[in-house]
Order: sequence, then structure tokens, then C-alpha cells
Amino acid sequence: MSEEHTALVQAPGRHRGAGATAVAHPNIALIKYWGKRDEELVVPRTDSLSMTLDILPTTTRVRVDATARRDEVTLGGVPATGEALHRIVAFLDLVRDVARMPQRAVVDSENTVPTGAGLASSASGFAALAAAAAAAYGLDPDPTALSRLARRGSGSAARSVFGGFAVWYAGSGADPAAADAASYAEPVPAGDLDPALVVAVVDAGPKALSSRVAMRRTVNTSPLYGPWADSSGDDLTAMRAALLRADLEAVGEIAERNALGMHATMLAARPAVRYLAPATLQVLDSVLQLRREAVAAYATMDAGPNVKVLCRRADAQRVAAVVRDAAAGTVVHIARPGPGAHLLPAEGR
Ligand code: PMV
Repeated sequence: MSEEHTALVQAPGRHRGAGATAVAHPNIALIKYWGKRDEELVVPRTDSLSMTLDILPTTTRVRVDATARRDEVTLGGVPATGEALHRIVAFLDLVRDVARMPQRAVVDSENTVPTGAGLASSASGFAALAAAAAAAYGLDPDPTALSRLARRGSGSAARSVFGGFAVWYAGSGADPAAADAASYAEPVPAGDLDPALVVAVVDAGPKALSSRVAMRRTVNTSPLYGPWADSSGDDLTAMRAALLRADLEAVGEIAERNALGMHATMLAARPAVRYLAPATLQVLDSVLQLRREAVAAYATMDAGPNVKVLCRRADAQRVAAVVRDAAAGTVVHIARPGPGAHLLPAEGR
């Protein structure tokens, strides 16, 4: 993994109160995060592992405004309201607390990912917001501290701080301060895999149930949750080894079983949480068919009906064509490992 993939680039000469712009990319978990052990601090029950993508970035600009009476937030040029605004203001409050600066901010965020569709928009969104807000408020977090900060906005954002493959630790300890300190992401060493991830968007609409609510219900009511969480630890150990030896088939098999297991825990929740749609199953069938034709292709799904298919870069076009034809209206994107969250050069330079 190159340095550019791991470092948070800190623009020189930054001063308190300056504006800052950051870019972050979504990540897709190969070992899933599903379930919190501390809801307020967003500390997960299990470790997870992901690949940051090189497509669908979020670009976020934060400018501290000493004259503003409240935070002004636009998402894709549209003023944010309701829950989205509330989450961003709560996150800015956290940054203000650490920076000991009460001033409000003007935030503009451009997302290329459809928001709330299980396409990791909150991961890129809060990783970019964390990097931009930290810089705008004069903080200079190291990558671990930035990962912990991004985690507070959305758990999966902790991983988008890093490029390539990243593991996010659940940490241990009941004491909140210790749990907070121990739960961060870091890069994972991998051999020469040359992977691609084909993102099959079968429905770009927002999900009916937020991952926050769905996770809570799964942890509280699903009899399958405990066994999945236990087996996920074994999956992570096997995944690390498979990544190191660049064994794409093993990486894919482990990722697929971990994701299907996560969805099984949701289906067993009371009432059931079901993100998988008929088109999801059609795409999953096409992935099986590809494997029968000796193409290494493995599926993973998040809190939505869309499917991400891991394969070799050399097979990506073929995989994309097959999954696109599997369900009417499916749109595909081909992703490769991408960079971690980074600041853009300071304004006016
Ligand atoms: O985006 P969050 O932090 O609400 O969590 C979503 C979790 C999954 O995408 C379903 C799995 C993962 O590890 O990213």
C-alpha cells in the first residue's frame, strides 16, 4: 500500500478558523460491522475490515464563521434539514468541544454516492467532514485520532480515513473513555491482489430503515446475532491471512459468507429486517453462475438491496456486464482500491 493511501495529508500553514476542504471515498466492508456496544460513542461489538474505493467520492468544505448564529449546511447544494442536519451539527459540536472554539460553521458537501442507499455514503460523508472540520477548527489529528473522530459521525467512516484495506477495531473495556480510545481503524497489509469491486446498484433509493435502527433491533432481538458475531472474529483472522497471501478466492469466500451471515441475523430479528430485494437475489444468482464458469466473483451486501462483487481487475468488465444484465435497471460501477481521506490544498494557494 502506498503512503498516499495511509496518510492524512495536512496542508501546511493552516491556522485556526481557516476554511478547509477534504475528499473521502466510500469503503465496502469485507468483514462487516453490524452492532454497537456503545451507541453514543459508536463503538462496535466486533472488528470489521474493508476496502476503500476509488470512485464515488464526497467533497466537503467547512468554513468557520464567527458571525453565524447557527451552522449552515448544504448537501449537494440543498440546505440540510431534519435528521441529516441534526447529525452534522452534533458532529460539529464534538469538534468544537475538542477545539474549544464555539463558532458556528458553513458546510458544503457534494456526494457522488446516492445517500442512504447502503452504498456507504455515510462513510465517505463523515470521513470527509471529519477531516475538513478538524482542519477548519485548527486541530491536527494524526490518522488514528481522525479515524476515532470520524467514527463518532458514522461507524464505517472510521475506515474511510485510510486507503486500500483497513481494519477497524472494536476495542475492549467497559469504561467509555477506554473503549473510545481503543476503537479506531488502521491499514491492513495485503499482498498483490489486484482486485476490483463491481458495484451493482439495483435500487438507488433511500433505505426504509436506517442502519442505526436496524443494528439495534438485530442486536436486541435476533437469536442469530451472537453466533454471527463470534464467527465474524474467525472470519477476520482468516481474511487477514488471505489478504496477505493475495488469495482472492479465499478473500471473496470469506467476505461472501460474512455478509450473508449478517443478513441472516437481520432476517431473524423481531420484527425481521430485510434489505434484500428480488433484484438482489437475481444478482446473487448471476454471481454464482459466474463462479460456475470459473470466474472468481464473490458478493457482499450492506444495509440496502445493492450488491458489490469482488473479482480480479482483469475480470471486472465481464463481471460488470453479467451482473448488469441480471436484473432490469441495474447500474454498475467498477471500483478499485482508492485513497484515504485527505485535505485539498488550502484555499487561495
Ligand atoms: O454506515 P454505518 O456506520 O451506519 O454502518 C453500516 C454498516 C454496514 O455498511 C452494513 C457494514 C459495514 O461494515 O460497513
